[in-house]
Amino acid sequence: MVIPAHIAIIMDGNGRWAEEKGLPRREGHKAGVKALKRVTEKAGELGVSCLTVYAFSTENWKRPGAEVNFLMKLFKQTLLEQARDLFENNVRVKVIGRREGLSKGILQSISEVEGLTADNQGLELNIAFNYGGRLEILDMIRKIITEIDRGLNPDQLKVEDLNKYLYNPSYPEVELLIRTGGEKRLSNFLLWQSAYAEFYFIDKYWPDFTGDDLLEAIRVFQIRDRKFGGLNKAGGK
Ligand code: FPP
Repeated sequence: MVIPAHIAIIMDGNGRWAEEKGLPRREGHKAGVKALKRVTEKAGELGVSCLTVYAFSTENWKRPGAEVNFLMKLFKQTLLEQARDLFENNVRVKVIGRREGLSKGILQSISEVEGLTADNQGLELNIAFNYGGRLEILDMIRKIITEIDRGLNPDQLKVEDLNKYLYNPSYPEVELLIRTGGEKRLSNFLLWQSAYAEFYFIDKYWPDFTGDDLLEAIRVFQIRDRKFGGLNKAGGK
């Protein structure tokens, strides 16, 4: 069974999940954390090497202050509460996104979890937090300009070389991108890394997403014919 090396997930629908149950939106986010735990465990069991999840986008700052504050608190609390479990499950955690704009407390919890799990060799869990794909590309351009100032010859740059300027230089290309909650768009997530990703959309809200749903997404991925701009193996269209 071919397991995609890098799976990315847009965890959408927490708010609607809660609203449909007559609950405050924050209950949806809390249930979303539980779903993330289930899916991380399943991904580890299946031998996925890298899982990247969209926890807070640079656009999410536009939400009402109370929801933003709640998401910040939940993120910090989840990192700290789950640190030991993640460590014991051999997960290596990385937080990708802009560090500017995050509180000292959050920055500290990020370094704690990243530090604790840095030598783990199992699943790599990238949590995109205060992340925007275009900003990542802008940050990449800035790093390249600095290197050009230091003597790098721009004519020698190749596409493959650019990966090292991403927030996480070590991750493989996204092979499977999953979005829950019924919307069918990329929402500024992993623009560079998803150039050849297969997309899988599911109407279910994120808090209802299970390990079996992950398995089903992988099954669909396995029967897709990935051509990367060429012809398929049979030589047809
Ligand atoms: C989208 O649902 C979800 C988010 C903006 C936040 C995702 C956060 C979590 C799953 C929990 C926090 C994560 C960590 C790592 C602690 P939405 O609010 O856009 O839902 P809606 O589209 O129904 O309004």
